[in-house]
Amino acid sequence: MRTLTQVDITGLRVLLRVDYNVPLDERGEIIDDFKIKQSLPTLKYVLKRAKQVIIMSHLGRPEGKHVKELKMDKVALRLMKHVGKNVTKLDDCVNVVIPDEKVVLLENLRFHKEEKENNSEFAKKLASHGDVFVNDAFGVSHRAHASTVGVTKFLPSCAGLLIQKEVENLDFSKAERPLIVIVGGSKLSTKFPVMNSLLPEVDELLVGGAMIFTFYKSLGLEIGGSMCEDNQIVTAKLLLNNEKLILPSDVVVASEVSEKAKSKTVETDKIPKKWIGLDLGEKTIEDFKKRLKKAKTVFWNGPLGVYEIEKYAKASYDLTKFLAGLKAKVIIGGGDSAAIVEKLGLRDEFSHVSTGGGASLEFIQKGTLPALEVLKN
Ligand code: 3PG
Repeated sequence: MRTLTQVDITGLRVLLRVDYNVPLDERGEIIDDFKIKQSLPTLKYVLKRAKQVIIMSHLGRPEGKHVKELKMDKVALRLMKHVGKNVTKLDDCVNVVIPDEKVVLLENLRFHKEEKENNSEFAKKLASHGDVFVNDAFGVSHRAHASTVGVTKFLPSCAGLLIQKEVENLDFSKAERPLIVIVGGSKLSTKFPVMNSLLPEVDELLVGGAMIFTFYKSLGLEIGGSMCEDNQIVTAKLLLNNEKLILPSDVVVASEVSEKAKSKTVETDKIPKKWIGLDLGEKTIEDFKKRLKKAKTVFWNGPLGVYEIEKYAKASYDLTKFLAGLKAKVIIGGGDSAAIVEKLGLRDEFSHVSTGGGASLEFIQKGTLPALEVLKN
């Protein structure tokens, strides 16, 4: 993959794709600007050398329509604060005249349906804004869109510093051993591909989240009213053949999914009928910690319980705090795991927190992404 430091951008107009798809509250205020901060090394590098930088991103999923709440204005203001320079925000991303300003931010790419369709004409219009294309939007590099893949047909292209950092951290082939991976989340169907491709590489794969109940059901155990993907029973059995896969030994069950519900901790082979499994039990948390102490590299993706409800957040929170104090290199996958780390204010304690949810999983699974692949040519 060609990277930014290998390309001479002196005096050029740099078209920079970033992932400024930041979480917003109901008033449209930015809740967390981690992704904006993570783009700053590339932005500063470019600003030192290039004539001008034209930044483009998507925000939310407006599905090809102009959605007022998803305009990039708030992002422009926040960027201005971080970069310490004026940011000129335009009203559209195509059919605009690029002003002679150092930092220009285009309007939300997804206001045009052609972006997701990877429409060639649209990509050409985007490409016409710059002399060279830099992709630093790791979080959206699993999508073959006009601004991630299409533009590379029209401009010399390379990867930015954030993409480089993500790729280096998420490539476990050279990771120091023991390598222990924790995978949580509710759906085995979503996590199976990544678990399957990680198993040969890891020393242990610890499993949490509601997907554990699909495993227990495949073993013929009672799971009460716990979540289960019946069409994944065969998949679960297949994974269970591998002894590196470690399942919890106890769980917190409740009469319903609520803070006020009656709850108790039970062994995983003693889940009462109708009760719902919502978190990992104390014994499992301690067992996972004991195993993790031996690790030199840890990767974690996916919540271990229903962390949105405080009462069932214990496993996710306890293990996050434990991982934050671990001497090993600890890498946090994007999405929910990154949100938990942020909620606990522990982001700086980790070696790497990925900006990509779906992108980080797909990268680990396949070793590449569509928008990275095109930077090889
Ligand atoms: C993300 O936040 O995961 C990325 O920006 C990708 O967004 P998308 O899932 O809407 O393509």
